[in-house]
Amino acid sequence: MPIITIEQAGQYDGQEVTLRGWLYNQRESGKLLFPIFRDGTGIMQGVCSLKEQPAAFEALRGLTQESSVIVTGKIRAEQRAPGGFEIGVSAVEVLQRVSESQPYPIQLKEHGVDFLLNQRHLWIRSPRQAAILRIRAEAIRAAREFMDGQGYTLTDAPIFTPAACEGTTTLFEVQYIDDEKAYLTQSGQLYVEATAMALGKVYAFGPTFRAEKSKTRRHLTEFWMLEPEAAYADLGDMMELGEGLVSHVVQSVLKNRTRELEALKRDTTKLATVKAPFPRISYDEAIAVLQKSGNPAKHGDDFGGDEETILSSQYDRPLIVHRYPAAIKAFYMQPDPQRPDLALGFDMLAPEGYGEIIGGGQRIHDYDLLVKRLREHNLPEESFQWYLDLRRYGSVPHAGFGLGLERTVAWICGTEHIREVIPFPRMIYRVYP
Ligand code: 4AD
Ligand code: MG
Repeated sequence: MPIITIEQAGQYDGQEVTLRGWLYNQRESGKLLFPIFRDGTGIMQGVCSLKEQPAAFEALRGLTQESSVIVTGKIRAEQRAPGGFEIGVSAVEVLQRVSESQPYPIQLKEHGVDFLLNQRHLWIRSPRQAAILRIRAEAIRAAREFMDGQGYTLTDAPIFTPAACEGTTTLFEVQYIDDEKAYLTQSGQLYVEATAMALGKVYAFGPTFRAEKSKTRRHLTEFWMLEPEAAYADLGDMMELGEGLVSHVVQSVLKNRTRELEALKRDTTKLATVKAPFPRISYDEAIAVLQKSGNPAKHGDDFGGDEETILSSQYDRPLIVHRYPAAIKAFYMQPDPQRPDLALGFDMLAPEGYGEIIGGGQRIHDYDLLVKRLREHNLPEESFQWYLDLRRYGSVPHAGFGLGLERTVAWICGTEHIREVIPFPRMIYRVYP
């Protein structure tokens, strides 16, 4: 008897197979049972009759939700069943029966989101959450495929760091060995700048941490970032790499995770248009667009969620905004030679109000200017000596960016909140489970 997954059922039409999974739900109708099984790859409806399969019927009757089961039966095409196939159950082995006195806490009805977040370890079993996690995995796979294909070498950055990369207000401090202090990384950027000088084109992909006090649908305190960095590269090279990367990720999910997008009822026509090149406007142009739409933004302001939504809603694909005022950007941004008050940086804003998915640009390669900026930002120079070495020994123009994985996946999935797209979200008031 072949052991198969629900995803493979279509290849076994008319054959006896074994499925290993859990009871998701069951309808009982006299001498017929209609169980629904799930196995992590999908859900499948079954039919079991008392007359034909009395032993299987007895095993299934009254069986509690989420009990683990191994089911044998014949696969047959059934138009009305989810997935197009059902299983005529002939044998059932119950591995663990969920007790009636302590039933599975998540019923097949609407629950409040706080309740579900407290049950996150179980909530991920629901078909919608599992579909999201599969899309996340495909996005990661496609992103790495793209970077590797462009000749970038994976060089991961450390998580314990001696200093800030993205401003000191969101640093998580940890006590390192003995009395030494360290911080959880906010970005691997400074380290990929070093590996770029060693290997040319590199990227890091890993978790990053920010003590974000904001309670928004776009902020996590622990999130994953993909960070390319290239020697002898400029702002233009990175805008091009970013749009190529995002196009490839979206098109790969569309192609390889069709069923999951369907399960999420995602309007895929909004993703189909996501192909490079993306529209590009300067920060100054963005301010003009905002003012025209009645937004009070003025030169020198940073954009919040509202501004990003107004800007991105004018386009059917992500929007690149470049050359922000240096004053509102990080210490390492290379100034524009034409307008030194502007930074050679860019943000990529996702459509449909999902906000900034990429931030990046060209880095300062001049030693003296970098030291000046460290001082202006009150950053501890001694912690940055190794970083300054990159400007002492063979400094070259270089550039990179960081793609926020969860923001990107939330947009692709069309979820309301970013917390659904990471297996175990960490947010301002949540570190459980
Ligand atoms: O724009 P950010 O802060 O840029 C950097 O950290 C650069 N050092 C990256 C680089 O150039 N290598 O963050 C990059 C992206 C944002 O565009 C956003 O998508 C995501 O990371 N991000 C967050 N995602 C979820 N929760 C948060 N609190 C996030 N903060 C940033
Ligand atoms: Mg940013």
